[in-house]
Amino acid sequence: MKPIKVGLLGIGTVGSGTFKVLQRNQGEITRRAGRGIEIAMVADLNTARARQLVGNAATVTDNGRDVVTNPEIDVVVELIGGTGIAKELVLEAIANGKHVVTANKHLLAKYGNEIFAAAHAKGVSVAFEAAVAGGIPVIKALREGLTANRIEWIAGIINGTTNFILSEMRSKGLAFDTVLKQAQELGYAEADPTFDIEGIDAAHKITLMSAIAFGIPVQFEKAHVEGITKLTPADIEYAEELGYRIKLLGISRRTGDGIELRVHPTLVPAKHLIANVEGVMNSVLVKGDAVGQTLYYGAGAGSEPTASAVIADLVDITRTLTADPHNRVPHLAFQQGSLADTPI
Ligand code: HSE
Repeated sequence: MKPIKVGLLGIGTVGSGTFKVLQRNQGEITRRAGRGIEIAMVADLNTARARQLVGNAATVTDNGRDVVTNPEIDVVVELIGGTGIAKELVLEAIANGKHVVTANKHLLAKYGNEIFAAAHAKGVSVAFEAAVAGGIPVIKALREGLTANRIEWIAGIINGTTNFILSEMRSKGLAFDTVLKQAQELGYAEADPTFDIEGIDAAHKITLMSAIAFGIPVQFEKAHVEGITKLTPADIEYAEELGYRIKLLGISRRTGDGIELRVHPTLVPAKHLIANVEGVMNSVLVKGDAVGQTLYYGAGAGSEPTASAVIADLVDITRTLTADPHNRVPHLAFQQGSLADTPI
């Protein structure tokens, strides 16, 4: 069967990770998806950087429209970020009948209702596992694993940059600005780090999780949002003395009046599991009426962790497009070879 052809918009931190992981794990990914997934085209303003990364494996352009209008491309992966050109290209890709995978929580939190409606009308998917909690498959958990439940609440550390800052300030006594700079250098922070430190990025993510968990439209503008910029090392120290850690939590829960959506620094008992989530790691707790509490943990940002989520969406779309029903749900038949072939 012919491989699925993917067009990548943006080849920065996550785009390059996506390219590398797809190449490195090509055999396994192809077996699991049921057919190959090929990055056929890459658009980036920095064409030299893009060419250096993809070599002759893909066509490089500096114009995203070349990708979204190319009839050969089946799936467009949007990794540009922001709500300007990214929105135009996503809507154009959908209008041209292409599936879209995006890590752009800002775009979906702001224009998700319009984008999902356009995709629905066109019969294509917009998948966004990478938009929430980096490599943790929390969207999949909410949409699939917990689908039998009436979700009662979600609470989590869903911004790696602020968790990294709070952890380093607490454990090493470093100044806020020093740690923020490190987070930027490590590629964790948003292009505009205000989004991280003011809680806006976490609010984008809790908004998206909440839409899935509670089956409501995307309502970012209704969220209460407070970041970590007013916290001082003294606050962190006092919290510690009282047996708490300060964590920036995104919280969404059912109330008598509807769904509550909020992000703010929260005192978490120091013994609680999520109080001990350090550095760029994220963790999400979900309470469902049938399952009870479930906990997810993993890298919330970074090149390959986020690429892992992008590729999971690509595999999902590829499985849906393949004619073989066995490929649509996890199935033991994926496991080819025998234990004897498996290097230990
Ligand atoms: N700036 C985000 C974070 C990146 O720090 O979590 C991943 O969404």
